Amino acid sequence: MANATPFTAFLLVSFLCISSYFSFSKAENTALPIVSGLSWTFYQKSCPKVESIVRKQLQKVFKEDISQAAALLRLHFHDCFVQGCDASVLLDGSASGPSEQDAPPNLTLRGFKIINDLRALVHKECGRVVSCADIAALAARDSVYLSGGPDYDVPLGRRDGLSFATRDATLQNLPPPFANADTILSSLATKNFDPTDVVALSGGHTIGISHCGSFTRRLYPTQDPTMDQTFAKNLRRVCPTENSTNTTVLDIRTPNKFDNKYYVDLMNRQGLFTSDQDLYTNGKTRSIVTSFAVNETLFFEKFVVAMVKMSQLSVLTGKTGEIRANCSVRNANNRSFLASVVEENATSEY
Ligand code: HEM
Ligand SMILES: *[C@@H]1O[C@H](CO)[C@@H](O)[C@H](O)[C@H]1NC(C)=O
Ligand SMILES: *[C@@H]1O[C@H](CO)[C@@H](O)[C@H](O)[C@H]1NC(C)=O
Ligand SMILES: *[C@@H]1O[C@H](CO)[C@@H](O)[C@H](O)[C@H]1NC(C)=O
Ligand SMILES: *[C@@H]1O[C@H](CO)[C@@H](O)[C@H](O)[C@H]1NC(C)=O
Ligand SMILES: *[C@@H]1O[C@H](CO)[C@@H](O)[C@H](O)[C@H]1NC(C)=O
Ligand SMILES: *[C@@H]1O[C@H](CO)[C@@H](O)[C@H](O)[C@H]1NC(C)=O
Ligand SMILES: *[C@@H]1O[C@H](CO)[C@@H](O)[C@H](O)[C@H]1NC(C)=O
Repeated sequence: MANATPFTAFLLVSFLCISSYFSFSKAENTALPIVSGLSWTFYQKSCPKVESIVRKQLQKVFKEDISQAAALLRLHFHDCFVQGCDASVLLDGSASGPSEQDAPPNLTLRGFKIINDLRALVHKECGRVVSCADIAALAARDSVYLSGGPDYDVPLGRRDGLSFATRDATLQNLPPPFANADTILSSLATKNFDPTDVVALSGGHTIGISHCGSFTRRLYPTQDPTMDQTFAKNLRRVCPTENSTNTTVLDIRTPNKFDNKYYVDLMNRQGLFTSDQDLYTNGKTRSIVTSFAVNETLFFEKFVVAMVKMSQLSVLTGKTGEIRANCSVRNANNRSFLASVVEENATSEY
């Protein structure tokens, strides 16, 4: 290397870039197990362009507003954790949608609109063959990738559910931000996630924002002793009262980049939620946090494994469920849709 010409240096750099590109290239995770009814090539014949349509459109959306990537990632998480990845979160009036109290209504609304716009583009190209649940899973993947995270293949073939998630099911399946690591571990163990999955999935908090109400109990009336002093002081400025409706970023180092800095935050006692910070306090998860903080490749690898697992929770496949004509409403609640399928005599749809 001592006498390398600029050109050989260029070749070397290109080679390193290409090889690191391929080390995250798609298809590498297709050896992961998938449930029966889903497939890595589900739309190959019926809608071969679905993935490129979604990615191109999201590239446009994120160019305008990168904060939407976090909204879409969280939407898929909430969908999958409550009654499976069946797009129930997208139904108008579903209790599994981020509630008023803990979610930015506007971001959420825009998240819903982004999914519905994607559905319209995809259905225009292919007809009503791709489910809203699959579109949400692809949108989450692209949110990760287009924010700087790993690219990966998503098994497809989900169908859209017919029922809302109840408020009880929602509360039972989505742990609160003030839960400690033991609570999060046992809650996620019921869905077959091991501690590595839990720590990796929590890394979703490397992008996005939170409302003050989700963490002010760590500030008032007394400060959580596991929180860094300067970090706490700054949070008290953003959230002067428990009731403040302000928001702040989840990852103070690189708030819009999907990277491993969230784990560096935790090691510096700058995790925003108890459910984040306690992953570093708890002996069962501490070394996993450290391993991700020092090795981003390892984090990306484990994150992909856990996301592919999450994306298959209680999915509807085959002839169950339906392919919604509008992600916000069941086909059965749509008069103009019903009229159109009666003409086509496609009543087997539901
Ligand atoms: C492990 C349990 C989890 C808890 C307790 C939790 C809790 C929360 C809370 C309270 C917020 C902020 C809501 C608000 O105040 O606006 C949030 C935001 C977020 N969560 Fe989680 N979460 C968890 C797991 C996950 C997972 C598995 C993912 C994805 C892989 C994820 C991705 C996100 C993202 C991207 C945001 C930011 C959303 C935005 O900017 O609009 N979370 N989470
Ligand atoms: C939320 O949406 C409403 C209505 O469109 C708008 O008036 C308001 O300014 C928005 N708030 C934020 C924070 O974007
Ligand atoms: C919101 O945060 C700003 C600082 O970021 C602060 O000056 C303001 O008082 C806060 N507003 C409320 C209602 O909490
Ligand atoms: C927060 O809101 C509650 C009612 O919603 C009110 O009783 C309380 O005084 C408020 N606290 C502060 C610090 O503003
Ligand atoms: C980081 O993790 C990757 C993936 O597991 C592994 O191949 C690599 O050896 C690790 N790097 C270091 C420096 O430990
Ligand atoms: C989808 O349904 C929602 C809720 O009923 C409605 O507001 C929206 O206009 C519909 N979208 C389209 C494209 O028809
Ligand atoms: C009803 O279904 C049609 C397709 O037949 C769709 O274009 C429309 O957006 C749906 N409307 C609502 C309100 O869901
Ligand atoms: C509609 O489909 C059913 C079977 O799915 C068939 O029995 C019926 O004859 C069809 N009706 C028309 C008008 O084609």
